[in-house]
Amino acid sequence: MSAPTLDRPAVDETALQAQFDATIAADHRVEPRDWMPEGYRKTLVRQIAQHAHSEIIGMQPEGDWLLAAPSLRRKAVLLAKVQDEAGHGLYLYSAAETLGADRADLTDRLIEGRQKYSSIFNYPTLTYADVGVIGWLVDGAAICNQVPLCRSSYGPYARAMIRVCKEESFHQRQGYELLMTMMRGTPEQRAMVQDAVDRWWWPSLMMFGPPDDDSPNSAQSMAWGIKRHSNDELRQRYVDMSVPQAQVLGVTLPDPDLRWDEESGHWRSGPIDWAEFKRVISGEGPCNAERIARRRAARDDNAWVTEAATAYAAKHAEGHAGAVA
Ligand SMILES: [Fe+2]
Ligand SMILES: [Fe+2]
Repeated sequence: MSAPTLDRPAVDETALQAQFDATIAADHRVEPRDWMPEGYRKTLVRQIAQHAHSEIIGMQPEGDWLLAAPSLRRKAVLLAKVQDEAGHGLYLYSAAETLGADRADLTDRLIEGRQKYSSIFNYPTLTYADVGVIGWLVDGAAICNQVPLCRSSYGPYARAMIRVCKEESFHQRQGYELLMTMMRGTPEQRAMVQDAVDRWWWPSLMMFGPPDDDSPNSAQSMAWGIKRHSNDELRQRYVDMSVPQAQVLGVTLPDPDLRWDEESGHWRSGPIDWAEFKRVISGEGPCNAERIARRRAARDDNAWVTEAATAYAAKHAEGHAGAVA
């Protein structure tokens, strides 16, 4: 190897790749300071950004009910939950920044449709029962997806997920508790819960992404330890978890083909309408335009706050530098 020069240090890519591979093989964490293949970095930025966008956009369907919560207690619970989602977005955008991504750029990509967010948040919340069903089913699906991410190979992402999962488990319980209360109420309240379950069940199954044989990037993500289980495995885990909860609640899941498979010990669900999933993810869901318009307004209307904060930080840094000198 020739001696490194000041302007271009010699980099032995093969050795770095070997070191990275050894880290993954040993199930150790990759940290921001470590060398990583460009494909690994790009995949993570895409996944973490998509996850962050989902948390932020996910505040909207439930946020719509903050002013119409039926009691002070329900309002306080929902407010805390929606605020948690903002926090999740913050941890995740910060994790993306450790990979060299720029947060303002990620927001632009979301608004311009160049990066996606979970298809589930493009459905409307029509009644207060939707708040309960989102907590139970949508946050429940998020937990199934996110618990394995606590062991993701990228350190900052894995660590962010630990706290996120603790909060998601509160979200799921508050949803289930709300539904339990409504199911013990009037026939109208029970009907509201059933109607919300009918509308959210199938979209919640779609949250795990396309079936394994139509998920081209999954194998590489699993080899890199970013993903720990396939989409179909996680979806199955979610169905097995949700069916007994539906029974306790006293609601019917809207799937005539749902059956217990004695041999495998799993609940088997009927076919998912993947055409609907593709339609919604490509922008034609019931609320896509509304969600993005609101996010765009939040960026544009609050630009002055970012500008003022940036100017203040610059001034403060100048003053601090002066004090040190
Ligand atoms: Fe969340
Ligand atoms: Fe949540």
